Amino acid sequence: MNIKNYIEKNQQRFIDELVELLKIPSVSADPNFKKEVLMTADAVKINLEAAGCDKVEICETPGNPIVYGEKIIDESLPTVLVYGHYDVQPPDPLELWNSPPFDPVIEKTEIHPEGAIFARGACDDKGQMYMHVKALEIMIQNDELPCNVKFMIEGEEEVGSVSLEWFLEHNQEKLANDVILISDTGMISKEVPSITTGLRGLSYVEVEVESPNRDLHSGLYGGAVANPINILSKMIASLHDDNNHITIPGFYDKVEVLSELEREKMAEAPFDLEDYKNHIGITDVHGEKGYSTNERNSIRPTLDVNGIWGGYIGEGAKTVIPSKAFAKISMRLVPNQDWREITDLFKTHFESIAPKSVKVKVTPHHGGQGYVTPIDSIEYKAADLAFHDVFGKAAVPQRSGGSIPIVSLFEKYLQSKTVLMGFGLNSDAIHSPNEHFGIWNYLKGIETIPYFYKHFTKLYLETNH
Ligand code: BES
Ligand code: MN
Ligand code: MN
Repeated sequence: MNIKNYIEKNQQRFIDELVELLKIPSVSADPNFKKEVLMTADAVKINLEAAGCDKVEICETPGNPIVYGEKIIDESLPTVLVYGHYDVQPPDPLELWNSPPFDPVIEKTEIHPEGAIFARGACDDKGQMYMHVKALEIMIQNDELPCNVKFMIEGEEEVGSVSLEWFLEHNQEKLANDVILISDTGMISKEVPSITTGLRGLSYVEVEVESPNRDLHSGLYGGAVANPINILSKMIASLHDDNNHITIPGFYDKVEVLSELEREKMAEAPFDLEDYKNHIGITDVHGEKGYSTNERNSIRPTLDVNGIWGGYIGEGAKTVIPSKAFAKISMRLVPNQDWREITDLFKTHFESIAPKSVKVKVTPHHGGQGYVTPIDSIEYKAADLAFHDVFGKAAVPQRSGGSIPIVSLFEKYLQSKTVLMGFGLNSDAIHSPNEHFGIWNYLKGIETIPYFYKHFTKLYLETNH
């Protein structure tokens, strides 16, 4: 294949096009950016057309539009459905960015001596999604597209993919495919390609604790009425025991138990604890007793406070007992845990541990199921062979701690399996200030993807069809 040549000749344009896409602030969490979200959907449409899709449409949904594109070359050949998202996380806190989040710059870093693009969405997921658009261009231009392709690029992933479920339900025929291909995860390192074989589920809730009906003078009332922040802190602290086990009754009932053999295999993945600590500036790791760091952030469920607020947080000191305290809490779940069930368990437990002196409200936000991919499938083999062709070695299967809740629904509505070929690195700072994506990773992704198509089509035609 003539892929490497094509990339070398066109790499500056590939970078420039991504930079243009990154300039549009498609923040799905903030309704103030609705116009920019729509502009980004349009830009994705134009790019899919330019890459060679025959039919591209902006599909309206109850929420943000989904961009659908296709190139059908022969009904008897298999179809790859590419999924990605054009929406991004809010860039906050802005003051911690070294350059404006929507004004992309290319800087060298220790890990990326070839340079990395710094912008919100550079890696998650505009950069990784766009690799697929460029890979399609290459395959079409080289006359080497071996199968049919469909693209489904959504704009609500970062807020729970609410409209996508609706879209899947109503477009099952249009979206029919033989495999779903996603680049929205990471790889172990530039030297160690990996295929993500698991994603965690998620239950996200908000809690409110209320005591007096107004803020009170903390001298006149202090000591005699419940302080909602004190109470909320204590309730939250009680959700873990001394072994960092979650204390919600029934929480672990359905957690998948891995065999010793599987755990041994996991432990073979390259991991350096000192590096890990240094990268994120922690003095020690922390987590559930009896599990390694890699297990804690992949095969074990968690409960974390994402934000907590209430009372006076302005300049100086104000003596006050606040009326209310709030927290946002996420629980990462593992296969077999049902997110709705876990949300109910949380609600029941949280309400039950509240003292009589306060009122408690638990409001569920969104959630989703975890996912594990088989590794004895033709799609896994195809991905592995593709990495082999480009990196000269097999990929390491790795369960990720992150969530892409829609993946389990792909199986439900489209009856197809998903392959997660990620090219990001943990150090890319997704969701954080100074998010970036290595130019090397971007171009390697573009180079690897066409090999997936080639191997998948071949294996597909050889095996079942
Ligand atoms: N791309 C991420 C998920 C991810 C990143 C998985 C790296 C594995 C490795 C995705 O955009 C994301 O951020 N998902 C959210 C869930 C969503 C419901 C807000 C997450 O994991 O917090
Ligand atoms: Mn993502
Ligand atoms: Mn994300």
